[in-house]
Amino acid sequence: MIVCRREGPGEFPETPTAKTPTRGEVNVRGVTSAGRQLQLASSYTRGQSFPGRRGERPAPYREYEQRLARLELPPPATAGGPGLWEVMKARRTLRTYRPDALTLAEVAQLVWAAQGITGGDLRLRTVPSAGALHPFELFLVVNRVEGLEPGLYHYHVPSASLEFLRRGELGADLARASLDQEMMARAALNVALAAVVGRATWRYHERAWRYMYLDAGHIMQNLALAATALGLGLCPIGAYYDGEVDALFGLDGEAETVMYMASIGRQS
Ligand SMILES: Cc1cc2nc3c(=O)[nH]c(=O)nc-3n(C[C@H](O)[C@H](O)[C@H](O)COP(=O)(O)O)c2cc1C
Repeated sequence: MIVCRREGPGEFPETPTAKTPTRGEVNVRGVTSAGRQLQLASSYTRGQSFPGRRGERPAPYREYEQRLARLELPPPATAGGPGLWEVMKARRTLRTYRPDALTLAEVAQLVWAAQGITGGDLRLRTVPSAGALHPFELFLVVNRVEGLEPGLYHYHVPSASLEFLRRGELGADLARASLDQEMMARAALNVALAAVVGRATWRYHERAWRYMYLDAGHIMQNLALAATALGLGLCPIGAYYDGEVDALFGLDGEAETVMYMASIGRQS
């Protein structure tokens, strides 16, 4: 039998009480925590006034004028394939891959699952995003994909095409910048999710940071499920040297910064 002890006054006496933190508090059991600081600085409190949107809305999409080429992707499949429950059950982080290349159709399916537009005037996508702001840009480090030169690519969402940004075997550099996680050098493809910070802070100020982390999780889960459905292996990657990775993608780390990556290859 569970006995609920009354710990103190309150409307719901059976609910265990927790100390309510005050705004600005940064110590968690004596340790200064930047994470806790963010949580407090971005918390909503009943009765507060919400700050409005700041100036003009930042551009919703990134497009590179100085690209080497634009490459059309085959249209993604939106029917068929294994069932959702089966895919959820099968999803597993995989860090070893066969050396074969991915096909362009597989890449098209992956980027569509991550960020593809699925309809409406708001150009809503395969993933939810706080306020439909979609602050993430997708970069691909191609090691081995049929029909693509190795190098750095950017997924241009509205045209569902790839912008070729930089030629070269970048997988080993990316692995080095990611705490020597060698699977990034061996994977056929690496994907990076880079947040365009102003796209979210424009509307949500400090709270935008929480939303960006949450948005990134949605994108990664779609990527992981799509990879599983295609018979590919994927490893989500959150451990990397931020400055080195941002520099590799040509990002300043402040206005735009990588928040999550994945290595992808054919299951071994
Ligand atoms: C936010 C996050 C960051 C991660 N970062 C890494 C990483 O840098 N390197 C790695 O090998 N695995 C990484 N993983 C994969 C986890 O280790 C893996 O999801 C966990 O062991 C559970 O296994 P499962 O995904 O097969 O269920 C990460 C997972 C998440 C959710």
